[in-house]
Amino acid sequence: MYKIILAHSRIGVSKLFFIQSCPLATSTTPVTKNKAPETGTNIEKPDMVRQIREKKPKMKTFSIYRWVKSNPEQPDKKPYLQDYTINLNDCGPMILDAIIKIKNESDPTLAFRRSCREGICGSCSMNIDGRNTLACICKIDDSSKPTKIYPLPHMYVVKDLVPDFSNFYMQYKMIEPYLKRKTPTKIGDKQLYQSEEDRRKLDGMYECILCACCSTACPSYWWNSDRYLGPAVLMQAYKWIVDSRDEYTQERLSQFHDTFSLYRCHTIMNCTKVCPKGLNPAKAIGELKKLMGGIQSMPEKNISTVGPEYK
Ligand code: SF4
Ligand code: SF4
Ligand code: FES
Repeated sequence: MYKIILAHSRIGVSKLFFIQSCPLATSTTPVTKNKAPETGTNIEKPDMVRQIREKKPKMKTFSIYRWVKSNPEQPDKKPYLQDYTINLNDCGPMILDAIIKIKNESDPTLAFRRSCREGICGSCSMNIDGRNTLACICKIDDSSKPTKIYPLPHMYVVKDLVPDFSNFYMQYKMIEPYLKRKTPTKIGDKQLYQSEEDRRKLDGMYECILCACCSTACPSYWWNSDRYLGPAVLMQAYKWIVDSRDEYTQERLSQFHDTFSLYRCHTIMNCTKVCPKGLNPAKAIGELKKLMGGIQSMPEKNISTVGPEYK
């Protein structure tokens, strides 16, 4: 103890922390901080930059869909593909890196959505070389073939790679994607308990980032998106149906008693194939159909859900 206090007053708080955190430390000798490595990083860094600049350029062409919904200057202009060629040597490895580079260096009028750049927000969903995916986690194919980039298929387009999500969000709103309870509870006052087993039922569904890659890959959704809810929204509906804390199971199921909202799914499985998060919306739809047909029993509720204070 005395040694430590002495060390503290002599070498300062940061050194004391070092002594405490290292069980093998037997001496209070100050450790020299930030000692330059023997190879000398100061010399390597400019070298690396020079090497990249001097490397043989690796040119790649991206053909990107361009169109503006309301363009008063050219109201009759049809959508077209515009080619941009960039050097992959000074670009990040993902498609989103390339699009950002194009916007920053070649064409500031190019429009697209992005936010997190790590597959979390779902905003950069687009169709890349024929497949719906997230641009930020899709690697650039460095072959000489041009990469074709379109907005998500069968959506109205606002501008370039920005689709209109109004219908998708309206359908999501229809399923009331929030906890609904009949038992009077003071929300925010106490926790609603959930057993580990009940919690596990939500795995594979709560991870959905609502990117709409699945819904816009579904042929049934292409032709009937005004009445068929599509895989993303149906999986979220099913998530609330099996959530042990939610008490509106019957009411939630009753909204699917028509021929379109659920039963337009023909188990084509495109949705599961394209999901960039590796989820399985087709399975959730299958489970929902089983519940509707009475093939599967209703999920048990309120067994492990609510703490004794609410009973
Ligand atoms: S299920 Fe997958 S593809 Fe569909 S919205 Fe969710 S994350 Fe996107
Ligand atoms: S399984 Fe159903 S929701 Fe998924 S792509 Fe096929 S029809 Fe669409
Ligand atoms: S930028 Fe967020 S998912 Fe791609």
